[in-house]
Amino acid sequence: MGNELRHIAFIMDGNGRWAKKRHLPREFGHRAGVETFRRVLTHCRDLGIPFITVYAFSTENWKRPQHEVDALMDLLSRYLRECLRDAKKNKARFCFIGDPEPLSDALKAQIRDVESATSGYDSVVNIALNYGSRHELVQAFEKLVREGKTEFTEEDVDRALYTAHCPDPDLIVRTAGEKRLSNFLLWQAAYAEFYFTDTLWPDLSNREIDSIVADYSARVRRYGAVKEEPSSGANGKGDEAS
Ligand code: FPP
Repeated sequence: MGNELRHIAFIMDGNGRWAKKRHLPREFGHRAGVETFRRVLTHCRDLGIPFITVYAFSTENWKRPQHEVDALMDLLSRYLRECLRDAKKNKARFCFIGDPEPLSDALKAQIRDVESATSGYDSVVNIALNYGSRHELVQAFEKLVREGKTEFTEEDVDRALYTAHCPDPDLIVRTAGEKRLSNFLLWQAAYAEFYFTDTLWPDLSNREIDSIVADYSARVRRYGAVKEEPSSGANGKGDEAS
């Protein structure tokens, strides 16, 4: 039997290149990216994956040209409207991870509405928005200090992060050829498997997701230990099993 896949996370990269290849403005790539996000979400849920996280906007993305930032915020706002409308149909809990502070009041209100309308569902979709992992860690430690803690356990940190409601990601997929984390889930990724594909995010097909999931499923996850080898040892178990 393959590895259980409870939590998959995506770094959705390559929207700009997708648009450039078509001689279109970058905003068109983001629009296509939202379409792909919708489809990927449905597909992952059909595959029975209960936790899905996507990196929609990083703390560094504010450095992009204002018209591109505005286009991304507009796409998010439209998506949030759709989320609220389809809350009962989607049967998923939408959570926004990141620091909402610099977002517009209108967007913050939409986020609150979507989070409260969907809070009763078990299946989780995390949308990382104005997210930066280092900032998340600093905020987590500040929170623990405010609680009066002077010593911390790993569990303390886990529950002070934006992702306290989720298991750590099992698999992080990054599209568009870059092989880095870009300040995404640094703490949570401690034992994650990684998959990098050259496919641009808008072109990521359900078939490729199936093959990524199959690849993950066949990997040996050791978590720093020695994996049991079914063929080794007289009892059919690895040494450390005895
Ligand atoms: C990176 O591609 C992508 C982003 C910074 C934005 C990702 C956002 C979406 C796919 C829309 C998500 C929307 C919702 C509603 C969740 P890039 O622009 O850096 O591409 P490039 O590296 O080719 O320039």
